[in-house]
Amino acid sequence: MEKQEIRTFGRRHGKKLSARKESLVRDVLPALCPRAGEKIDILEIGFGSGEHVRELSAANPDAVILGAEPFMNGVAALLSAICDESGAVLDEYKNIRIFPDDVRIVLNGGAYSFDEIWILHPDPWPKARHEKRRLLSADFLNLLSKNLSPNGKIIIGTDHWEYYDWILAQVKNTNLCETDSAQNIIETRYQKKNMANTNAPKYIILGHAD
Ligand SMILES: C[S@@+](CC[C@H](N)C(=O)[O-])C[C@H]1O[C@@H](n2cnc3c(N)ncnc32)[C@H](O)[C@@H]1O
Repeated sequence: MEKQEIRTFGRRHGKKLSARKESLVRDVLPALCPRAGEKIDILEIGFGSGEHVRELSAANPDAVILGAEPFMNGVAALLSAICDESGAVLDEYKNIRIFPDDVRIVLNGGAYSFDEIWILHPDPWPKARHEKRRLLSADFLNLLSKNLSPNGKIIIGTDHWEYYDWILAQVKNTNLCETDSAQNIIETRYQKKNMANTNAPKYIILGHAD
């Protein structure tokens, strides 16, 4: 990142990885990191354990999908789901790339032109003193817009309605606007886990304003 940015995520490491996951992180992950100049069509930010990245991969076999996630147990879970016993990436998931860190490092290069950017259940940081840690500020949305293709879409889902309103207020200070295009959206792990305790998710779909 160009300047010291406020950290928008919690921990980077959880419980100790299994031997298989450790070896996937060590031996397979480096080859899946995006290469300079590579065309990437779809970005998912904060993929958790990566269920939705896999859905995107299956639904868009001709597209290259990049998932960014700094929580290494989530990265390892996705690797484990897309690799066979020997550690080879399964054919149907060969279009997945993984960036195991803060997505702003990728975006600050400004070199991408994504057709879709997905952010499902971003951390809501509900306490007032943590509000500055919310990822979807106007500055961040403008950074996304620099990396969005002319007809590209940003799809945001959250079950935290106060964060939803806050994001819409941030959008007013960007060069993005809401579009009404419908999306097929699958339930993520977070959504399933929290469904009993939270509101129904609401979605915001954004495109370039002009
Ligand atoms: C509440 S979880 C939701 C995970 C997943 N999208 C789901 O719905 O199951 C939010 C995720 O965003 C990730 N995250 C937060 N800030 C990020 C950033 N700057 N770059 C990439 N991922 C980030 C966190 O590590 C966390 O895994």
